[in-house]
Amino acid sequence: MTRPIPRWAWALTGSGHCFAESLAMLRELGAADLFVSRAAAEVVRMYKQRLDLPQGMHVFHDTTASAAPVGLFYEGIYHTLVIAPATSNTVAKCALGISDNLVTNLFAQAGKCRIPAIVFACDSAPEMQTRAPGGIVKVWPRRIDLEHTRALGAFEGTRVVVGLDELAAAIAERRAALAGHV
Ligand SMILES: Cc1cc2nc3c(=O)[nH]c(=O)nc-3n(C[C@H](O)[C@H](O)[C@H](O)COP(=O)(O)O)c2cc1C
Repeated sequence: MTRPIPRWAWALTGSGHCFAESLAMLRELGAADLFVSRAAAEVVRMYKQRLDLPQGMHVFHDTTASAAPVGLFYEGIYHTLVIAPATSNTVAKCALGISDNLVTNLFAQAGKCRIPAIVFACDSAPEMQTRAPGGIVKVWPRRIDLEHTRALGAFEGTRVVVGLDELAAAIAERRAALAGHV
């Protein structure tokens, strides 16, 4: 029996911040599947975007109380979890060990299966520019948001990145490690 080639698992949460750029990165990734939070499915529509994924990428929506697709993590199908972008809500829940929806369950199960995770946390600085549906706006992440981002960075097997360049670099490093170059 042939085993499937391990893939990237990419989770999209309901963040307007850098979500179009993150989706563009996913489209270039190759063997990957997308997991969409309920908020992300709404936000994609609010920004008048489409997922437009290459053929062969599967999309999993958050439709079950038990986060049924996480079962795939036990089958060796995914080598890496990327959560990009990750809302302050998802980062907070992950940092506190809460797993009550599809994306937070992916993070928890990745940890328990020792699958490395890369998390692009939206809230990275006390003052930031972000994109609302109507254009660029200024936001001031709270101390609690920044504390959760910091706390998540201390999790085993988890790399927290705070910008698109850092996300691209983390993916490139992981790709090199998978290819045996590191
Ligand atoms: C248009 C729009 C843009 C949003 N952008 C962000 C964002 O950049 N960062 C963030 O933390 N939350 C943002 N939110 C709020 C999240 O969608 C909300 O907290 C949601 O509950 C997150 O759920 P999830 O983490 O399960 O995806 C946005 C909401 C809307 C309607």
